[in-house]
Amino acid sequence: MRTKIVAGNWKMNKTLPEAIQLINDLKSMVKPDKSVEVIIAPSYVNLPKAVELLNDFPIKVSAQNMHFADHGAYTGEVSADMLKAIGVETVILGHSERRAYFNETDDILQNKAHKAYEKQMTNIFCVGEQLEDRQAGKHFDVVKNQLSKALFALPLQAYKKIIIAYEPVWAIGTGETATPSQAQEMHHFIRESLAKKYGRELASHVRILYGGSVKPANAAEIFAQPDVDGGLIGGASLNAKDFNAIIEAAKS
Ligand code: 13P
Repeated sequence: MRTKIVAGNWKMNKTLPEAIQLINDLKSMVKPDKSVEVIIAPSYVNLPKAVELLNDFPIKVSAQNMHFADHGAYTGEVSADMLKAIGVETVILGHSERRAYFNETDDILQNKAHKAYEKQMTNIFCVGEQLEDRQAGKHFDVVKNQLSKALFALPLQAYKKIIIAYEPVWAIGTGETATPSQAQEMHHFIRESLAKKYGRELASHVRILYGGSVKPANAAEIFAQPDVDGGLIGGASLNAKDFNAIIEAAKS
């Protein structure tokens, strides 16, 4: 049995006062339940406050990115040790917006994934194809390539702290969701790829989240797919009522 995860990627949204409000709203609304792990990923500047406010509540705090170096002359960047020192043990890596707007390549992501493993951080690793890849029937190849280039150099034990998020780029922020069967098909493919590389036992334990226009209205149907272990939520995670409804949809 894989425990479901509902993670909110706040992206570049919420000032500190707005973040505090949203976290307090979540604390008053969310009913913790063993069947779902909840994670939120505010922006860097709001992380210390988020950790402090959630110290007494079972919502984990994640960063949205980090650098692969330990320290040094990388103006504007944040290291794993900096995150860990403020109590952040989880990081989203390889989001399609990082790949598209900040030129994160598979090589960079391999270094970042390796650093997350070395520092024993939970790595929510994102993969997903562009619309033209899907139209050309190349979506499985694209996702397989992203996985193998960035993650498959890691040893088996690294997967204790790896969560994979399948986010088809054409479904992010567009209102266009993958159908439950499109999501299931890709999640099954990802699990089979893990099984071929690391064995079936490992593959059966890795959580694979779906991301891309998940809303209260479509969450339950997507989460009901056998290889979908929850969601990585963008827009709908910025509203406590909607995010809580999605958490409710993941409960079993
Ligand atoms: P939306 O839920 O806004 O489509 O964003 C998904 C996403 O990119 C989460 O990381």
